[in-house]
Amino acid sequence: MTRITVTVDGTSYSDEVEPRMLLVHYLREGVGKTGTVIGCDTSNCGACTVHLDGRSVKSCSVLAVQADGHEVTTIEGLATDGELHPMQQAFHECHALQCGYCTPGMIMQAIDVLNENPNPSEEEIRVGLEGNLCRCTGYHNIVKAVQQVAGQGAPQSLTESITAGVQA
Ligand code: FES
Ligand code: FES
Repeated sequence: MTRITVTVDGTSYSDEVEPRMLLVHYLREGVGKTGTVIGCDTSNCGACTVHLDGRSVKSCSVLAVQADGHEVTTIEGLATDGELHPMQQAFHECHALQCGYCTPGMIMQAIDVLNENPNPSEEEIRVGLEGNLCRCTGYHNIVKAVQQVAGQGAPQSLTESITAGVQA
């Protein structure tokens, strides 16, 4: 067993974990962040996407020990003071989900896309989201939601919001 200390959604956790434990299992079973879901066993679907030090990663392809000393933000850390994050709000307004299983990872990846490129073209959004699979929506409304947030000039506030969420 190895002791790790990880900040998750602004709270520090220190736990003994097996060196082979995946970050997604640590988040769900060790920390109780079940908003981060598992959709495959091949690192293909993106449902498990979280931010590690502000960049998106598929948490099923990262070991928990690799997050030692780092900050993780999950879908549960995005809302602040009961206010949805702008990307969560846009997904809601644009009907960018149906079953919702892909949504936590899709939103985390969408935020990363805009943090990297505040004014992406539709093509750039689709390329940015290509590691995240959705079986329901056909992606059209997901792209619209990302475009809506980009159109609001939200990337700066996205970053602020994430930071605020982590500090809350
Ligand atoms: S659970 Fe499918 S990519 Fe992580
Ligand atoms: S909304 Fe069902 S998988 Fe995306």
